[in-house]
Amino acid sequence: MAKSGGGFWKGVFWVILIEALAGVIGVLVVQFGGFPMGADAHPSQLEAQLGHWTHDAWVQHHAPNVADPVPVNEQTLLAGAALYQGNCAACHGGEHYTNSPLGRGIYPGAPQFMRFVEYQRTHPKFKLPHETPAQEQARNDHSFFVVKHGIRFTGMPAWRYNMTDTQIWEVVNFLHHMGHLPPNVEQAWKQMPMSPIPVPVAAPATPAKAGKTMKKK
Ligand code: HEC
Repeated sequence: MAKSGGGFWKGVFWVILIEALAGVIGVLVVQFGGFPMGADAHPSQLEAQLGHWTHDAWVQHHAPNVADPVPVNEQTLLAGAALYQGNCAACHGGEHYTNSPLGRGIYPGAPQFMRFVEYQRTHPKFKLPHETPAQEQARNDHSFFVVKHGIRFTGMPAWRYNMTDTQIWEVVNFLHHMGHLPPNVEQAWKQMPMSPIPVPVAAPATPAKAGKTMKKK
């Protein structure tokens, strides 16, 4: 009895010793500048997996379970296209901007949505995998949640400070249709100016009101 008890405490001692040593080594690596903090570093396999695991668990537990309140039609897709081109294309790629250098220059890099759009344009026979309504809703809810709250430790901003919930749904609907848009919407999207600086799409003031306040000053 006494012997096995001693073995247990020996085990505890070794675990504590190894953890303390790992801690000291970690501190030394950081102290001597051994941990790459540049945004052009490449994430290690472990870092990427830990990130995905934490992200997926967070979204799964907190994303809303609601039906998309914005109907998908030409008008709402156009609104989504303008929001996307003005706010998201700089990092995720858009018309006139297929591979975003800005998106590449942040760590971790921004997924290039435009590449998938181009694939769909050049492969007209490609069909998105079939989804049940429940799967489609889960995908919408996931995107809505991520766009609204952003992704911590990455360049993905929380858009709740710039966009209303309706606008976020519009941009999410656009995101999920950007590879197979109605021709009118696709044409209009191609004409939209691309701005690396977010355009104030969410500003509710009308031009007339803005003029008045300027005169007051
Ligand atoms: C400053 C750069 C930047 C801007 C601007 C930006 N994003 Fe992102 N976004 C990122 C990065 C980086 C990631 C990847 C984060 C990660 O690795 O988890 C990301 C991830 C995402 C994802 C998750 C993709 C996935 O695989 O699940 C969605 C959806 C998304 N962004 C949508 C948008 C929308 C919509 C906008 C505009 C309203 C936008 N982003 C604007 C940098 C940006």
